[in-house]
Amino acid sequence: MSTTLPAAGATHYAPNAELTRTAHVSGPEAYAALVAEAEADYEGYWARLAREFVAWKTPLTKTLDTSEAPFFKWFEDGTLNVSYNCLDRQVEAGSGDKTAIIFEADGGEVTTVTYSQLLERVCRASNVLRSLGVSKGDRVVIYMSMSIDGVVAMQACARIGATHSVVFGGFSAQSLRDRIADTGAVLVLTADQQVRGGKSLPLKAIVDEALALGGCDSVRQVVVTRRTGADIAMVPGRDLWMQELAGSQPSACEPEWVPAEHPLFLLYTSGSTGKPKGVQHSSGGYLLHAALTTKWTFDLKPDDVFWCTADIGWVTGHTYIAYGPLAIGATQVVFEGIPIFPDAGRFWQMIERHQVTIFYTAPTAIRSLIKASDGISASHPREFDLSSLRILGSVGEPINPAAWEWYHEQVGGGRCPIVDTWWQTETGGHMITPLPGATALVPGSCTLPFPGIMAAIVDETGEDVPNGQSGILVIKKPWPSMIRNVWHDEERYRSSYYPPELRGYYLAGDGAGRDAQTGYFTIGGRIDDVLNVSGHRMGTMEIESALVSCTDHVAEAAVVGRPDETSGEAVCAFVVLKGPRPEGEEAKRLAAVLRNWVGKEIGPIAKPKDIRFGDNLPKTRSGKIMRRLLRSIARGEEITQDISTLENPAVIEQLTRTN
Ligand code: WT7
Repeated sequence: MSTTLPAAGATHYAPNAELTRTAHVSGPEAYAALVAEAEADYEGYWARLAREFVAWKTPLTKTLDTSEAPFFKWFEDGTLNVSYNCLDRQVEAGSGDKTAIIFEADGGEVTTVTYSQLLERVCRASNVLRSLGVSKGDRVVIYMSMSIDGVVAMQACARIGATHSVVFGGFSAQSLRDRIADTGAVLVLTADQQVRGGKSLPLKAIVDEALALGGCDSVRQVVVTRRTGADIAMVPGRDLWMQELAGSQPSACEPEWVPAEHPLFLLYTSGSTGKPKGVQHSSGGYLLHAALTTKWTFDLKPDDVFWCTADIGWVTGHTYIAYGPLAIGATQVVFEGIPIFPDAGRFWQMIERHQVTIFYTAPTAIRSLIKASDGISASHPREFDLSSLRILGSVGEPINPAAWEWYHEQVGGGRCPIVDTWWQTETGGHMITPLPGATALVPGSCTLPFPGIMAAIVDETGEDVPNGQSGILVIKKPWPSMIRNVWHDEERYRSSYYPPELRGYYLAGDGAGRDAQTGYFTIGGRIDDVLNVSGHRMGTMEIESALVSCTDHVAEAAVVGRPDETSGEAVCAFVVLKGPRPEGEEAKRLAAVLRNWVGKEIGPIAKPKDIRFGDNLPKTRSGKIMRRLLRSIARGEEITQDISTLENPAVIEQLTRTN
């Protein structure tokens, strides 16, 4: 494992004077003081912030309980309600008429809601859920697209203490079924359809298909929000319309006060083995970090217009759309569509239209928009007035310095700092990131830990690695918004995140290094069998399982990642068929069949870019698939591995051919 650190003497961008003066964390000394405070009294630091950022019903007296490590408890005796913190609190503080969400639909129509209006919608939806018998601790699966209704659905669950699990609208019926079954959800919230890139796509029909696959007996009701008004099938007694039910519900709803450790949500994410894991998050600690990082990392002020382009189906959309911005009373843009519809100028046009001041997106989007605006193009950012912008953010995968520079110059006009935020589904919020008024930037580096986060680089035995060398990224102390468990699988939680050789440190699964002089972190990518395709996390084993479940055709399959200019990594599958190895047109036809199969099993995001057929797969004498060799073949590298033990060396040549 090696991480390429930015070259010595790489360009530094110092925070501008205005930000250093006015930012919430103003200047390197302010950052250093917070770091020192956390080091001197770790629990005292977090307790102080928990009292400042969260409105507690019952004040906390305990901060951190490590007695059942690695199962940690934060603010255990405090009680709160997350939706109260996000909505009622703003209304009570006199911000009821402030815009909470500016929603722009795929087709460009704009709808806004104030904090008072959002509170009322959430209360009505909460009352609907309660009237259907949903109560504290029940699980609710949400399969909706980017919409105010999606945020309302999440907040309504939080209000009544139900634990939500949002499933990304791009996942297939099979993936949705697996998640519904694993959570034991009592209810599914969905919409008739979603609209993306000018097309109406099914949601409710996929819920029907998922439930028909079986194993979802826990589901009593499906509540459908009308989006497009399409004519869809409703199962009498099971399926209900949200708008019809909500209209007759009271506009107020007493929140359910829950202990800080109460599970706010489960979110499924891929690991190196087995099915996706249900990452379980808390209420109190999670909300604290969501609010705190939204405020400090983006230096968010009352007049800002914040826009995070992530989908609510991913953790970024949870923390930086559904919870963080609302918890600090911000105004934010929520966008239904995609960056390239009607053309690649959509993001820039929306920034201009809504006077966005803080823009948070993924490197994969930036790279594809660079491509789209190459040369003289009407979709180039320079064609738009982006002068409202003051801070830019990046998330989901390493941002290469060239893309960083383009983003900085072409989008940010050279004046907006870029916060390159490293974190994960499991960490709940930002872990390593610049703070705009405090941190000098180096393109390609996520710089330094958020104050109070004890990030470090160690070797396989947990020993610290000196700056200038690469190793394994760990977090040495528990933090408030950390994963609490893998849903009903304590063993998997332990083995995935707290392997015994790492001395009680949290294992992030990424390789990283720190700069010899500055101590800045650079993330190298996953060190396990997890791929990052366009910022989407996928396990190679999941895709292999999907391929071999195509029993009509596939005998054996191995999946590896290879670097890709636009998507960061691409999925490359090596397949042995039951029948003879296909060539030419037949190989192309079968590759298409398998791609669609994977799309149906997992979702379109998991479709392999390359599919290669061989008579068999290269294996060691003991029968293990030679994955390193496959990785070299996928990258088109010269083969340096010893292949003298291969029974059939001809497969190497077969496997270099893409279809
Ligand atoms: C993995 C986590 C963070 C929310 C969205 C993804 C990679 C994430 C960065 C970054 C380099 C990054 C890591 C991490 N990653 N942010 N700024 N620089 N790599 O959450 O799906 O849980 O994926 O994304 O590999 O482990 P996720």
